[in-house]
Amino acid sequence: MTPAELAALHEAHASDPQAFWLDQARRLDWDRFPTRAGDWSFDADAFHIKWYEDGVLNLSANCLDRHLPAKADDTALVFEPDAPGTGRAVTYAELHADTCRFANLLKERGVGKGDRVILYLPMIPEAAAAMLACARIGAVHSVVFGGFSPESVAGRIEDCGARVVITADEGLRGGKHIPLKANVDAACDLAPGVETVIVITRTGADVPFVRGRDVRWEDHKHRLAADCPAEPMGAEDPLFILYTSGSTGKPKGVVHTTGGYATWVAATFAWVFEPRADDLFWCTADIGWVTGHSYTLYGPLLHGVPTVMFDGVPTFPDASRLWETIDRLGVTILYTAPTAIRALMREGDAPVVKHRRDSLRLLGTVGEPINPEAWRWYHDVVGDGRLPIVDTWWQTETGGVLMTPLPGATSMKPGSATRPLPGIAPILVDAEGHEIPGNDVSGNLCLTSSWPGQMRTVWGDHQRFIDTYFRTYPGLYFTGDGCRRDADGDYWITGRVDDVINVSGHRIGTAEVESALVAHPLVAEAAVVAAPHDLKGQAIHAFVTLNAGEEGSPAILTELNAEVRKHIGALAIPERIQFAPGLPKTRSGKIMRRILRKIAEGQLDQLGDTSTLADPGVVDQLVAGRG
Ligand code: WT7
Repeated sequence: MTPAELAALHEAHASDPQAFWLDQARRLDWDRFPTRAGDWSFDADAFHIKWYEDGVLNLSANCLDRHLPAKADDTALVFEPDAPGTGRAVTYAELHADTCRFANLLKERGVGKGDRVILYLPMIPEAAAAMLACARIGAVHSVVFGGFSPESVAGRIEDCGARVVITADEGLRGGKHIPLKANVDAACDLAPGVETVIVITRTGADVPFVRGRDVRWEDHKHRLAADCPAEPMGAEDPLFILYTSGSTGKPKGVVHTTGGYATWVAATFAWVFEPRADDLFWCTADIGWVTGHSYTLYGPLLHGVPTVMFDGVPTFPDASRLWETIDRLGVTILYTAPTAIRALMREGDAPVVKHRRDSLRLLGTVGEPINPEAWRWYHDVVGDGRLPIVDTWWQTETGGVLMTPLPGATSMKPGSATRPLPGIAPILVDAEGHEIPGNDVSGNLCLTSSWPGQMRTVWGDHQRFIDTYFRTYPGLYFTGDGCRRDADGDYWITGRVDDVINVSGHRIGTAEVESALVAHPLVAEAAVVAAPHDLKGQAIHAFVTLNAGEEGSPAILTELNAEVRKHIGALAIPERIQFAPGLPKTRSGKIMRRILRKIAEGQLDQLGDTSTLADPGVVDQLVAGRG
């Protein structure tokens, strides 16, 4: 985009927001085009968020059917499995047919508009078909990342009241088998009410089938009709639920609706990646995360750009996997996470430079702040110094990118998401919620106005939605992020200011890890904080107090890790568990996490005022126990 084109977009929004947002909606095919764009208020007494409310459309038809006349036999997605070179391309016609078959199978099993379906799947083409099938019949998909435990799956099944789960026999990643079906069986034992489990064959492992409940996809696929009408959906009908961690309690079911989400994904994909006819787009994110929804699946498909579905890890079979794959497939845009970049940077330049990478025209990063050193390596080595980088800041809650430099229009700065996209209105506020004006300032990042891709509610708990995002600073959407605006007016996200930890781009709530730890019978109390980590960005540091008379031991440590693996998943296992005789508390009994954070960070000379603690002595014990 040229600076003039970007300026024109900002100007169009500023002069007539309604017309601007209706224009963006024209990127989609509507059964009934909306007469109005945004209708919202962040004020407590009139709180509501609606976009394109009288519009009618179907997202699956937008991703598939509308490409059929011109490009039925073109590639819609490229499946790149764990073992390099064993993948295949799937055309729009094929993906359309499989989506319809899946939709028909779901219908046979009693799934209809508004019903929730849990997906617990590897990155296989059938996963795309399953998501699109839900969208096609108006069912609400909720994808659960394959790294979550059976108990986590059960919690999500119960929370959204799903009666159908779609899974695979096993996952296969980095050469390791992941027992997806076995995990679903365990989840169903914990959360009764699941009537159908559809099992896709990935590895062919021999998995037990429950009579009447379990259905093998391959047994039915060929008899199912390869067409299925796309259900006309109201723009505000829910499209999906995605569970994400917050500062308190169990994960929230973030709800995205159809028209606004699709518009925002289509608009941001166009602005950020400027798709071309010969693109092959590779977003490495798993569909278990929002990035996988918006930019592995929906964004590219909406634009008719072939997308890579990668079911592996960047370091398998070796550190050149991404670069070898880019050359073999002819990838033009790579969109990945800082944690992957840092892991590959550690392996040196050799695995990169032995591959050409000359098909690439754009690089992207997402999920956590990227440190300037990793940014430079990505730019200089991966991009040969010639490729622009989009450092895209956004959240599960925002549906799509909100801030990023735009190649050609914005100058890049290593580590800065730079500027908001058109229609996005960030402000920085202090602890009291007063706006911090001007440049060269830091504060809490809020947004003053809505955008089409904004989440609409927390599934089953609308009050929690309002309380979480709109009460801290009344009238504003609070992102949970700290941020600096530099002297040029460019934004630098500094990370979460709430009790959310970003481990390798995975969002983990401290409260969830704490409750997993205290589930161990010997644990009296636990407090979890983030510590900086070279590779992961942040790591989980847990302080655990055992019951009186109990002594910390390697055996208990193993059990505590197992507890976290059981309640959440291996991705939440702490980097470090420190046994602590006591936790620093105020006289009213509140744990002073500020002090724990400093101890975890190793900034022992910056513990601040400890005189208000009920027992200042515990701090010395914690410092001594840090080792
Ligand atoms: C949190 C949201 C964005 C979708 C995937 C993660 C952090 C995300 C950036 C970035 C700095 C970033 C923020 C945000 N974050 N992208 N480019 N620069 N920080 O979605 O799991 O909902 O996490 O990730 O802290 O609040 P998520």
